[in-house]
Amino acid sequence: MNDLLRRGTMRVNERGHLEIGGCDCVLLAKKFGTPLYVMDEELIRANCRRYIAAFKKHYPGSFQVAYAAKAFLVLYMVRLIREEGLWLDVASGGELFTALKAGFPADQILFHGNYKTDEEIVLALRHRVGRIVVDSEEELDRLDQLAGQWGGEARILLRITPGVEAHTHQFNRTGQIDSKFGIPLEEGLALRAIKKALGKNHLLLMGLHCHIGSQVFEKEPFEVAAEVMMGLAAEAKGAFGFELKELNLGGGLGVRYVSEDDPPAVEEFVESLCRAVITNCRRLGLTLPSLLIEPGRSIVGEAGTTLYTVGVVKEVPAVRTYVSVDGGMSDNPRPALYDARYSAVLANRACDAPDCVVTVSGKHCESDTLIRDVRLPRPKPGDLLAVLTTGAYHHSMASNYNRFLRPAVVFVKEGKALVACRRETYDDLLKTEILEPDWKEVADRLASL
Ligand SMILES: Cc1ncc(COP(=O)(O)O)c(C=O)c1O
Repeated sequence: MNDLLRRGTMRVNERGHLEIGGCDCVLLAKKFGTPLYVMDEELIRANCRRYIAAFKKHYPGSFQVAYAAKAFLVLYMVRLIREEGLWLDVASGGELFTALKAGFPADQILFHGNYKTDEEIVLALRHRVGRIVVDSEEELDRLDQLAGQWGGEARILLRITPGVEAHTHQFNRTGQIDSKFGIPLEEGLALRAIKKALGKNHLLLMGLHCHIGSQVFEKEPFEVAAEVMMGLAAEAKGAFGFELKELNLGGGLGVRYVSEDDPPAVEEFVESLCRAVITNCRRLGLTLPSLLIEPGRSIVGEAGTTLYTVGVVKEVPAVRTYVSVDGGMSDNPRPALYDARYSAVLANRACDAPDCVVTVSGKHCESDTLIRDVRLPRPKPGDLLAVLTTGAYHHSMASNYNRFLRPAVVFVKEGKALVACRRETYDDLLKTEILEPDWKEVADRLASL
């Protein structure tokens, strides 16, 4: 059996069908159609709890785990995150709006973005979000001014680029940081921004933030980032008496898309972060800050599975076999964007032994390969293909390319399936469009500008 099937509530049932959350995937596909995003609620909750338990065990100071909404966000997910006691990291007005609509406490929301529009900032200020993570000196000025107009004080973190860049299997410690995000350490820019923030009338600088990358398999780059950030805090303390109350080390822990992927366990990852912060505090004579992290992928990634119906099987003799399914780059753009790799099983024949290698393609007007070279029992039209580890950055990155309908999302748990987001309809595609403009209204609007 594919070892990636040993996760959460996933199992193969007596009928030889893939089952998640006590629900037979064949029945889910029949009832809700395909493509279908299936989310294992218990696994999401368990992942949240593992983070909290690990911090309780390894960090003597206060801490917060903020779920990174960009990985996957629907109203139901917001509710679940709240029930598990996590905070929420949002990175756009739309994510913030969704969180607020679901009743998430605004003071437990962190608001990110390298360019927050005035409209987004005002939305955040009006609702008094917990922290605004400021990305540039320009934003410091603009935010201070807007906070003054809105008659309040904004609690902020400064996002710093610590010169550590990490991706799967590797990391670089660069002198010169080439990134659109954050304030560089170089040439005293980070120190200058801290000083500027401390001098603002309507901003309260709570601490520092960094995020070094995503799908990271090593602990060391996070430890180096913690060391660099604490070093900066010590310098700022010496220079301007700045006290680091909060340190946010971002997200980034990797998950398993294919059997060879081997990220550290959540517990190991948290332990190494905590140890790095504690050690550097002692070394530099700083008090322990409140420690925050923002995991996204490692909370939802492995909890998601996408079900597709196999439509066409085309053998190109001595070259390859193409298996076309009823979705593609509109529900999963990651192979096209990042050359991402995946594992899959036939959900209706999960006990059959793999006997061929095929390429899974989507049905868009592109060569939208979903998986190149995956071992499967020889697929036939009508089979149900389950692509694993599609919980993070799939639904949230989905599009309507070729006017495809975005799939439904169902949360499964204890044999029940809840539709958290229904499948789009053709009418949904047209709901924002105008065929015959009301020319009088257009003229009036132009005249009023
Ligand atoms: C600032 C920030 N925080 C958190 C995350 C979440 O990262 P991940 O999903 O890899 O845990 C990201 C993702 O890019 C990010 O940019």
